[in-house]
Amino acid sequence: MTKGWTKSDWRGKPRIQMPDYPDQAALQAVEAQLAKYPPLVFAGEARRLKKQLAQAATGKAFLLQGGDCAESFGEFSADNIRDTFRVMLQMAVVLTFAAKVPVIKVGRMAGQFAKPRSAPTEVVDGVELPIYRGDIINGFEPTPETRRPDPSRILQAYTQAAASLNLLRAFSTGGFADIHRVHAWTLGFAEHDKAERYRELSNRISDALDFMNAAGVNSETTNELSRVDFYTSHEALLLEYEEALCRIDSLTGQPVAGSGHMLWIGDRTRQVDGAHVEFCRGVLNPIGLKCGPTTTVEDLKALLARLNPENEAGRLTLISRFGAGKVGEHLPRLIRTVKEEGANVVWCCDPMHGNTIKSSSGYKTRPFDRVLGEVREFFAIHKAEGTVPGGVHFEMTGQDVTECTGGLRAVSDENLADRYHTACDPRLNASQSLELAFLVAEELTRQREDARRVAF
Ligand code: PEP
Ligand code: CO
Repeated sequence: MTKGWTKSDWRGKPRIQMPDYPDQAALQAVEAQLAKYPPLVFAGEARRLKKQLAQAATGKAFLLQGGDCAESFGEFSADNIRDTFRVMLQMAVVLTFAAKVPVIKVGRMAGQFAKPRSAPTEVVDGVELPIYRGDIINGFEPTPETRRPDPSRILQAYTQAAASLNLLRAFSTGGFADIHRVHAWTLGFAEHDKAERYRELSNRISDALDFMNAAGVNSETTNELSRVDFYTSHEALLLEYEEALCRIDSLTGQPVAGSGHMLWIGDRTRQVDGAHVEFCRGVLNPIGLKCGPTTTVEDLKALLARLNPENEAGRLTLISRFGAGKVGEHLPRLIRTVKEEGANVVWCCDPMHGNTIKSSSGYKTRPFDRVLGEVREFFAIHKAEGTVPGGVHFEMTGQDVTECTGGLRAVSDENLADRYHTACDPRLNASQSLELAFLVAEELTRQREDARRVAF
């Protein structure tokens, strides 16, 4: 796949959105130390995820990717990890039932620390400071000391990622993920007095589980009902971290990013000849590529060739993020390019990053209706083009935050101040996330019914 590639080749390419560390010696010491540490994930797991994503490309599986915009050192706790994991499992049960195919669960977790920003500095109380770039790079507090890029944060991020992953692995297999438990939580949500619309689907899931139980299929007899595969992902932005965790897969001899199962390239760092594409092209992991309004047909062609020269199924997920009302303007040209090139890709919808607005109360927010609107447009365009909508990508948390407006337990502009905890972009809260899963389930059900009608 990557003859002649080495993990440090990115250093010879233009780099953007990365810090200039004032203390290079300290940075090099951290890199040398991290290079000796164990990788967080193993190549076999990344290969397995790639196989599952190959299924999503053809509609035989569906991708659910979600988690924080940016993980932080301050919000790190077992409860936070548990709650995000729990809401993702709930969403996955609802989506599995509707799609009738396996749902691939990928967290924006255990490594999602570095953020691209729209400006390198900001002015706070008349003082110009370096911008906050995520806890792996500098601190949020607006002081010159905290905003200075500090390489020791890289080791703290690694430690936090390792501890997060350890807990996620335990939750995945230790009984927490039992489908009966997960469904019981979801049922609780559907009993909310405004959740009438979702009750029928919940009851149908209960019936299916009761039927399976009566037929002798339950978590005692069937492993699949009590455990799940859960994968991690993050934006491969801080390439010193990625390089230091890059390893060789002993089975295939190929380089693998050991920092997470799936890496993605952000909308701001997807230059064909840039450092980020150069690093990602060489590792065997599944790669996500954000596609925004400025992604041209030429960009996409060049990136398909660079990132997946052998057209391997499951290797590349195109994560589109245009904004509600704009999908029809941009997605068709990308879909047609992919068709013309005969490229194997998973189409995934990120309805978050094109729908950020400033609320009347001054907070950065995302209206729930616009998030849902983009998902609906994504499904409609794929239907019109005869292509497969393979997944969804959300910024969300299991906490009861007030960062996005709308939803069943309506958050208004005035409520945003109540529990606005994100250090970066506004996330869906637990209730909004689950509600969105029900609404995506409706789209998936409609899609299956249409397909069945065509088959008859
Ligand atoms: C993100 O996913 O947090 C992000 C910054 O997205 P994008 O690159 O699509 O703007
Ligand atoms: Co974000």
